[in-house]
Amino acid sequence: MDDFRLRLAREDDIAAITKIFNQGIEDRTATLETRLRSVEEMEEWFVNRAFQYKVAVIEDATRHVRGWASLNPFNARCCYSGVADLSIYIARDYRGKGFGLKLLDFVVSTARQQGFHKIVLHAFDFNDAGRRLYKSLGFREVGIYMEHGLLDGRRINVVIMEKILEEEG
Ligand SMILES: CC(C)(COP(=O)(O)OP(=O)(O)OC[C@H]1O[C@@H](n2cnc3c(N)ncnc32)[C@H](O)[C@@H]1OP(=O)(O)O)[C@@H](O)C(=O)NCCC(=O)NCCS
Repeated sequence: MDDFRLRLAREDDIAAITKIFNQGIEDRTATLETRLRSVEEMEEWFVNRAFQYKVAVIEDATRHVRGWASLNPFNARCCYSGVADLSIYIARDYRGKGFGLKLLDFVVSTARQQGFHKIVLHAFDFNDAGRRLYKSLGFREVGIYMEHGLLDGRRINVVIMEKILEEEG
């Protein structure tokens, strides 16, 4: 984990980003989405993003992308323009090795540079890795929506977390 590279995503990363996202969908620990995405759909997602909603990647020593994270619109109303929603996915075989922590730290810095005031996210209550990751970078648990999202017929409790960025100046 000593040799890694963090950077903003490019269009030629989309195949890797799609593969990693689909692993996250298949594993049922991160998202209520169940439909696997095509590279074409993810290309559209990438090129149609507003300028400030950056996507970042982490490469390993072999310079392959092993994880990605995105800043997403939280709410279309302009009063919420300072709030970014966050997604983060590490490739299945590379989880638990510190990639998530490095990438999240980078995305938090990126959000600050983009002028966001706050990041919010949602995590399944049983996603221990996600909850620990966010807490270790100072995200606060706002609360839990009980029996909130439907996943394969099961109602999932969803934890809301947030981090106010100006606190660290
Ligand atoms: C959640 C995820 C992004 C974390 O990234 P990661 O590279 O696996 O995590 P790291 O190795 O950087 O470890 C981050 C923290 O999680 C903990 N952690 C890692 N794997 C864990 C596991 N399987 N169970 C419990 N805690 C775990 C680490 O101990 C560390 O906590 P600490 O700082 O208190 O020691 C990654 O596991 C992943 O992509 N999972 C599937 C998609 C997902 O859940 N996305 C988030 C949706 S909210």
